[in-house]
Amino acid sequence: MGFATDAIHAGQEPDPATGAITVPIYQTSTFAQEELGRNKGYEYARTSNPTRAALERNLACLEAGRYAFAFASGMAAINALASLLKSGDHMVASQNLYGGAFRLFDRVLRDFGLSFSYADTTDLAATEEAFRPNTRLLYIETPTNPMMEITDLAGSAALARRRGVLLAVDNTFMSPYFQRPLELGADLVLHSTTKYLNGHSDGVGGAVMLNDSALADRLRFLQNAAGAILGPFDSWLVLRGVKTLALRMRKHDENGRAVALFLASHPKVQKVYYPGLQGHPQHDLAQRQMKGFGGMLAFETGSLENAKRLLRSVRLCSLAESLGGVETLISHPATMTHASVPPEDRQRLGITDGLVRISVGVEDVEDLIADLEQALGQIA
Ligand SMILES: Cc1ncc(COP(=O)(O)O)c(C=O)c1O
Repeated sequence: MGFATDAIHAGQEPDPATGAITVPIYQTSTFAQEELGRNKGYEYARTSNPTRAALERNLACLEAGRYAFAFASGMAAINALASLLKSGDHMVASQNLYGGAFRLFDRVLRDFGLSFSYADTTDLAATEEAFRPNTRLLYIETPTNPMMEITDLAGSAALARRRGVLLAVDNTFMSPYFQRPLELGADLVLHSTTKYLNGHSDGVGGAVMLNDSALADRLRFLQNAAGAILGPFDSWLVLRGVKTLALRMRKHDENGRAVALFLASHPKVQKVYYPGLQGHPQHDLAQRQMKGFGGMLAFETGSLENAKRLLRSVRLCSLAESLGGVETLISHPATMTHASVPPEDRQRLGITDGLVRISVGVEDVEDLIADLEQALGQIA
């Protein structure tokens, strides 16, 4: 079926017991068993729950995978994925990662005997140079947060396969509506469902999707063994959100393009980072591997003082962490999402004190542009 049809129907047939058109929230911790060794497919809700199972079937379908596992947050999903590795293993990751992923790798998992190298994954030769004999996983975020750099997924998949390394892709920024990493050769794809999949800024969650049945068995085991599962109500919220994913992504994309063009032509904006702009260094690659450019962008105001003034002056855009909701959020990566990245690394990556990130929502775009225009009027 088409994407919008799958988003509404995949994995969520009317409830067999009652005919309820919407998957019920099975708010239960356990399930009565008919006799020893006989049950209706569910025993204990950490292991599996019908609401979570419906979401997992749905997300597997949307990402063109056979399996999906839903977790309590995007970070819990990343942690489960990293738990596929063993002490002594090495991971190569994109140098411009979400700050929380970097913090987990560098300040938690290193203590468990994993090692990490950060490479400019937009350059396949640089990625390959970072490989070591014990490299087991290549971990890519594309587009990156907040610099909107694009990594060639098909090229990275070919490289990973040649070196016998798994490729995992954080697809949070694009959603499966615009980018499907498994179809481009990735082994694992993950999401912070907190963002576009839920889409309404009212729940935190994560998910991992894949095709390989042996890896899926291991992830199912890890999901149950470590227990960082997505609860039934939060699973239901994501299922509800996903139904409008196609509609929302089209509007995020339309508004994102319009806001990027407005900012790019504004005299007080020094630079705009948005893959949909002709001048973006990987615009052609973005066009090839993504079906749209989405609603995430960043721009340079020139100084911390300018960024502060702008963020103080916006009225419609809300100053807040996170992204991917229907409402427009504006943030300051250096002191918010990427505060855990060492200052020298932030400078090297271009995450300056004057950089501002916008998650463009689905409001009327003229209102968003008017708000940004009046706020830009307040800066030097
Ligand atoms: C690209 C990306 N991946 C992962 C995460 C982590 O997700 P969560 O906040 O749901 O734990 C985030 C959160 O902002 C993110 O932006």
